[in-house]
Amino acid sequence: AKTVRYQAENAGTSAGSTVDTNHIAYTGTGFVNTANEAGAYVEWTVDSATARTAPLTIRYANGTTTGRPMDVSVNGAVVSAGRAFNDTGSWDIWADSTLTVPLNAGANTIRVTATTAGGAPNLDHLDR
Ligand code: GCU
Ligand code: CA
Repeated sequence: AKTVRYQAENAGTSAGSTVDTNHIAYTGTGFVNTANEAGAYVEWTVDSATARTAPLTIRYANGTTTGRPMDVSVNGAVVSAGRAFNDTGSWDIWADSTLTVPLNAGANTIRVTATTAGGAPNLDHLDR
């Protein structure tokens, strides 16, 4: 199916998150910078025409030298626990993390939740 892009700046976010533009090479109109705390999240509503498994690609930047792992959940079920979102070299350098997930027909809730005190990496978009 054709790839659909869901920008992080249009997603739901945990308290303390901001939409920022102070690092280059994001897509859309900005990226989400969450608070630096465990439990910080970004949540997208992603549509699927049919029930199926589909690849999701999460674009992120991590300018620290410490990982920013997150749980990835689909419709409330964790499908990738403590998934690694490691150092990308700079806040200006973005990387893609792709995983295949089960989707329902219709709307699906995709949430990424930081599992460590660093919070989430900066998040640019999700492609489905
Ligand atoms: C810096 C950076 C932010 C990032 C933050 C962090 O402040 O400019 O974009 O979100 O570090 O450590 O999470
Ligand atoms: Ca942050």
